[in-house]
Amino acid sequence: MDPHTEPSAVEVIRDPRDFQARLIRARHAGQRVAFVPTMGALHEGHLTLAREGRARVGPEGLVAISIFVNPTQFGPNEDLSKYPRELSRDLVLCASAGVDVVFAPDTAAMYPEGEQTRVTVSSLTAPLCGVFRPGHFEGVTTIVSKLFALSGPCVALFGRKDYQQWRVIERMTRDLLLPVEVVGVPTVREANGLALSSRNRYLSDDERARAAEIPRALGYAVREWESGARDAARIRDEVDTRLRAIATSVDYIEVRDADTLEHYRDESTRAVLAIAVRVGTTRLIDNVVLGEESAPV
Ligand code: PAF
Repeated sequence: MDPHTEPSAVEVIRDPRDFQARLIRARHAGQRVAFVPTMGALHEGHLTLAREGRARVGPEGLVAISIFVNPTQFGPNEDLSKYPRELSRDLVLCASAGVDVVFAPDTAAMYPEGEQTRVTVSSLTAPLCGVFRPGHFEGVTTIVSKLFALSGPCVALFGRKDYQQWRVIERMTRDLLLPVEVVGVPTVREANGLALSSRNRYLSDDERARAAEIPRALGYAVREWESGARDAARIRDEVDTRLRAIATSVDYIEVRDADTLEHYRDESTRAVLAIAVRVGTTRLIDNVVLGEESAPV
């Protein structure tokens, strides 16, 4: 299918080979390429990634976003069917953020009949979300490697809210020698500190108010660390108490080595406090790298 133009004036490409050819042409014309893989339902966090991409490739460069709800990263009991799909609205937002090209393939194009290939990253995917969402990261690394095969050399931008995802994709890109520079962009937050997520729309007013305790609890941990406390277990326990008071259920609240994601042991390593909790039926994740990032609130 030929690229076509939607009312928003953003160039929309549906066919993977057309997308690949478009970016090859851009590079031949001397443009640098920034690429933001998404599943749509765009919000300010995604637009920040696009703007960061623009800043990195300059006004002459090309900024591309992919919008694809990737079925292989959803478990059987997850929200694939109800995941928001709103391409027209997303295209308007892309235009407002100065995106040049939107790649919006259908599932059959990305997973052709008879496909049987998966990309797996081992240790980094084992803890945290890997425990609670079996197969999730394999779905992510499979689709992102396909997307990188299409995009070719580029700078690719991911939100650090999905800290483990960012680190896994970075590892995969290095291991597969892909010609992509992976950049993690700091989390964008609402005024009350809640990390932006396409899933926040599912929160009721009461749940949203409860969820605001998440950035407050992370802020507590940041301030403890800044004041010199290094008892990661004690800080974790306090965050645990605070979050269990507002959460419907807790998947994990853990301090991990920020690079290997192994258990945090001592000050010779960097520390990330990562959490995943459900408020109502909505699963929220967040994190902060202690001693490096400021308190969310
Ligand atoms: O973070 C997301 O939106 C998705 O996991 C990604 C990276 C686009 C892969 O489908």
